[in-house]
Amino acid sequence: VKPESLSLCPLGTAAAPEQELLCIFGTGDLGRSLGQRLLQTGYRVVYGSRRPHSCGPLPERAQVMSHAAAAQSANLVFICIHRENYDFLETLAPELKGKVLVDVSNNVEKNLYPEANAEYLQRLIPGAHVVKAFNTLSAWALQNGPSDANRQVYLCGNNAEAKQAVSVVATKLGFTVLDRGSVSAAKELEDFPLQLFPEWRLPLRLAVGLTAFFFFYLLIRDIISVYIKEKKDISFRIMVSLANKVFPIVSLIMLSLCYLPGVIAAFLQLYRGTKYKRFPDWLDRWMLCRKQLGLLALGFAFLHVLYTLIIPIRYYVRFRLSAITVSEVRDKNRTPEFDTTMAWRTDSYYSVGILGFGLYLLLGITSLPSVSNALSWREFSFIQSKLGHVTLFFCTFHTYLYGWDKFLRASSYKWYTPPGYMLCLVLPSVVLVLKLLLLLPCVDRSLTRIRQGWERTNPD
Ligand code: HEM
Repeated sequence: VKPESLSLCPLGTAAAPEQELLCIFGTGDLGRSLGQRLLQTGYRVVYGSRRPHSCGPLPERAQVMSHAAAAQSANLVFICIHRENYDFLETLAPELKGKVLVDVSNNVEKNLYPEANAEYLQRLIPGAHVVKAFNTLSAWALQNGPSDANRQVYLCGNNAEAKQAVSVVATKLGFTVLDRGSVSAAKELEDFPLQLFPEWRLPLRLAVGLTAFFFFYLLIRDIISVYIKEKKDISFRIMVSLANKVFPIVSLIMLSLCYLPGVIAAFLQLYRGTKYKRFPDWLDRWMLCRKQLGLLALGFAFLHVLYTLIIPIRYYVRFRLSAITVSEVRDKNRTPEFDTTMAWRTDSYYSVGILGFGLYLLLGITSLPSVSNALSWREFSFIQSKLGHVTLFFCTFHTYLYGWDKFLRASSYKWYTPPGYMLCLVLPSVVLVLKLLLLLPCVDRSLTRIRQGWERTNPD
């Protein structure tokens, strides 16, 4: 784009420079919202329409012309029309020559067309400079202006000056621009809005899988086994007792799965003696969904806390308490002796559980973008890594204290199977031991050097 072709102000009116005129093809929702925002930001806007005199309500102060006239009057044209209707643009090739065309389109399905919409547009009008941008924003986000979660505008295109011109507009509208390279990246950008929580998929599947596994494991072990052995129906325990086992167990496993990839990555770096080799794909993908794993784990811990709070008001618990009291009085006629060890044990695991949950909440809150954006990288990594491992330690310790001496009692292993909480302790214990190994001064020193860029030279 030549600078002189950008200037639309007549010479001699320098005292009150006129704002740049931008053109929008398309008067649908997106075209109208974009026009309104551009006008609010101080640009002048001209719409190109097939029927300039009957194209429905448009923002005040915007002009409407035929496509050809509108294209000629501005240097930057937003194409807010569906790809299926692009072919008519070919007839405007002379008017659009040398102009910047901003392709904001999306598709309703992935791989609907062999080439990206922006590439198709570039093929139709080879003389124009196509830039793919704004397609990840909704009409709503455009009209209301950027919010914290919706601040980014991805763009790509082959011409650096054209991209610069679009970046200037996006920045003036209050967005942050992320350049994704040449127009060949357009397909990826066009697939963005079609994604449905991609980074949540793996953690959600894992949560459902673990919940189902532990639900059936504990159902058979704690409820069906009692029915088979003693002919006693305690199926009512599914609702609270079983749920209050499954949820914390899944939570603890998922919390350890947040920290396991970091530990594996550290050992891999130590083994390879360099930080410059790529991690395997599975490890990369695992690391990228740690936040989602952690937030789901927090959700399960929250359920455990809520279920624990209602224990004292449960009919079953109140009934058992009064039945025990009555039988103590009737059969033994004495007050049971106070068991200090029991008091220590229960108070300790409640207290450690509360501390663990408090830190868990802190981890969850600091992983939210609005909070993490306000932290420096050092603060963020201190909370997520150091406090994260402390949280894992507290939650694991809480579960060990809950088990207390039951680990050594043969009666705990019904049908030769361990209780759920013993199974769920395996992974966090492994993660904590590996982390402790990494904290040994000699190991820590080597790892720090590798992370600062030092490489172990291999003899070959
Ligand atoms: C078990 C309390 C936080 C993991 C228990 C139990 C109680 C309890 C009363 C025994 C439940 C039963 O008798 O069935 C609390 C309190 C917490 C807390 C008051 C904080 C306010 C946590 C957290 C975790 C956790 C953050 C980590 C994920 C576990 C596990 C069990 C357990 C794995 C064993 C479940 C079983 O198989 O019975 N907790 N807890 N707790 N808690 Fe917590």
